[in-house]
Amino acid sequence: MRNASILAPSLLAGDHANLAASARLVADAGATWLHLDIMDGHFVPNLTFGPETLAALHRAGCTLFFDTHLMLAEPHRYVEAFAKAGADLISIHIEPAYDHAGTLAQIRALGCQCGIVLNPGTPADAVRHLLDQVDLVLVMTVQPGFGGQSFQAAMTEKIATLRRWRDEQGQTWRLEVDGGVDLRTAPLCHAAGADTFVAGTAFFKAPDRAEFLRNISALAGD
Ligand code: DX5
Ligand code: ZN
Repeated sequence: MRNASILAPSLLAGDHANLAASARLVADAGATWLHLDIMDGHFVPNLTFGPETLAALHRAGCTLFFDTHLMLAEPHRYVEAFAKAGADLISIHIEPAYDHAGTLAQIRALGCQCGIVLNPGTPADAVRHLLDQVDLVLVMTVQPGFGGQSFQAAMTEKIATLRRWRDEQGQTWRLEVDGGVDLRTAPLCHAAGADTFVAGTAFFKAPDRAEFLRNISALAGD
C-alpha cells in the first residue's frame, strides 16, 4: 500500500498572537493538513494550547484537516473535548499508562480518525498490538516538547520496521514523522517508509512555503 506524501505544518512554529493568520499561511501554501501540538506540562515540559484554540480556528474560517497530537499524561480525559472542538484526527502517546486500545476506540466512536505516537526511546514493538486499530502511526524524530530541535537520524530504522509491518499486513494507516523535519531530513524519512511529514520551523521559516510543500509532495512514487 502506497500513500501520497502529505505535509502537516505545525502551528507550534506559527505566531501565537495570531494563530488564525498562521493557519491561513498554511492553507495559502497549498497544504491540506494542520498539525496541532497539545502539551500539558506533565507528559512534556511545556504548555501550548487546548480545544478552544481548535474551535476558534474553525470559527475564523480554517477548513484544514486538524491533525491533533496530544502530548498528555491522561489523553483519555480530553479526547471528547478535542473531537467536539473539531479535531479530524487525534493521536495519543503509547508511553503513559492508560487504556490505549479503549481510547483509540473512543476517538473513532467520536467520529475522528485515531493515531498512536512513539517517543524516540520507545521501540516499534510497543505499538505492534494496536496497528490494526489505527489510522496513523507517528514516529517522533525528536523528544517531544519543543519545536526547533535536531532530527534524530537513528529513528529511520524504526520507521522502516513499522513500514515493513504495515506492508506485510496489508494495512493502510499513514506513517507520520515529527521533529526536525526539513528538506534534508524528509527524504531520509521517506526513503525509510514515511508518507506524512510534520514540519514546524522549516515550514514557517521557508522563504517560499508553497515551494516547500511542492518539494514534500514530490516525495512520491516509493
Ligand atoms: C514537538 C512537536 C512537533 C514540533 C515540530 O514536541 O510534536 O510537532 O512542532 O517542530 P519542528 O518542525 O520545529 O521540529
Ligand atoms: Zn507534533
